[in-house]
Amino acid sequence: MPKVTYRPASGDPITVDAFADMTLMEVALCNDVPGIVGLCGGICSCATCHVYVDEEWADRLPAPSGEEQDMVEGLDKRRANSRLGCQVMVTDALDGLVVTVAEAE
Ligand code: FES
Repeated sequence: MPKVTYRPASGDPITVDAFADMTLMEVALCNDVPGIVGLCGGICSCATCHVYVDEEWADRLPAPSGEEQDMVEGLDKRRANSRLGCQVMVTDALDGLVVTVAEAE
């Protein structure tokens, strides 16, 4: 069972056990991670699941789809390591992943 650490915009980091084949957004919602809302249910249209992937993990995640890239490019708080949590599937290969929750737009 992979572990994922979320750093909320404020407050202490939260490390949780994630079921493989859930998205970062779904895992966050299951564990009440502050700042992850998942308003659109994961269809890549709200960005309330915006996270920054820690540098050491950035190249280990699958590349974002064009749809995700388009959505991220429209965010004021985007960074080079921005991802939408609903578009990142947690797998055993991501055990130890650390992400920071973006502040709400
Ligand atoms: S939950 Fe809406 S874009 Fe991710």
